[in-house]
Amino acid sequence: MKDDIKIRNYKNSDELEWLDLHASVMVDSYAWWIVIHKKPNYKKETIDLVACHNERIIGFTTGEVNSEMSKSNEVFIWEFGVHRNYRGKNIGRIMIKNLHKIMNENYGLNKSIWYSQDPASIEYYKHIGMKEIGRHWQLSLVPTKEQKDAFKKDNFYCRNIRGACDIDKLDEVRKIFTTDDDDDTLKPMICVGFEYVK
Ligand SMILES: CC(C)(COP(=O)(O)OP(=O)(O)OC[C@H]1O[C@@H](n2cnc3c(N)ncnc32)[C@H](O)[C@@H]1OP(=O)(O)O)[C@@H](O)C(=O)NCCC(=O)NCCS
Repeated sequence: MKDDIKIRNYKNSDELEWLDLHASVMVDSYAWWIVIHKKPNYKKETIDLVACHNERIIGFTTGEVNSEMSKSNEVFIWEFGVHRNYRGKNIGRIMIKNLHKIMNENYGLNKSIWYSQDPASIEYYKHIGMKEIGRHWQLSLVPTKEQKDAFKKDNFYCRNIRGACDIDKLDEVRKIFTTDDDDDTLKPMICVGFEYVK
């Protein structure tokens, strides 16, 4: 199988197939909480790879070089996924290896930054030797009547407030606000950041 897997650069004509795979990875992981309908564009240069089997895209990763999301001389990873039928076959690891090869050769960089709120992939990042650099809660608040009214004054009907809080502050946030715990997609989840140096 490994020999049949080809890693190549993403090209614009891949967009629909890439989005299909992204949506598929979304339904069986907690990697993202919104469906995307277009491949995002980023401000800085990206390293954008897909893994293919029989010409079909079965994996992807996108890293932004010197992203505003991380420090300079780092690559911030926006996307990383492998189709469920192909997991555990080293494809993720091969994509990371290829990504770092391009980082080294084209940009002289050796550090990538990975964030995830998907519990399985958090274990994966630990397993392959990434170092934790921080963690926080991702959560949504049910707006209070006062908050709804304040927004409504400005013609906005607020249904939900999305944000984050420090890892030790969820209880304090809950003393003041109501977190949206019933919605499986929006419920509070711990997001862990990792760095990988190679
Ligand atoms: C995370 C993900 C991309 C990993 O891809 P993959 O191709 O299945 O991983 P690999 O086959 O390269 O695994 C490499 C090693 O990690 C191990 N591993 C795989 N998944 C693991 C998990 N959930 N927990 C612990 N170890 C794991 C493998 O057994 C293998 O170990 P070994 O080399 O010591 O034998 C894939 O599981 C995925 O698409 N998950 C859903 C999307 C997601 O959460 N993305 C990341 C956050 S944005």
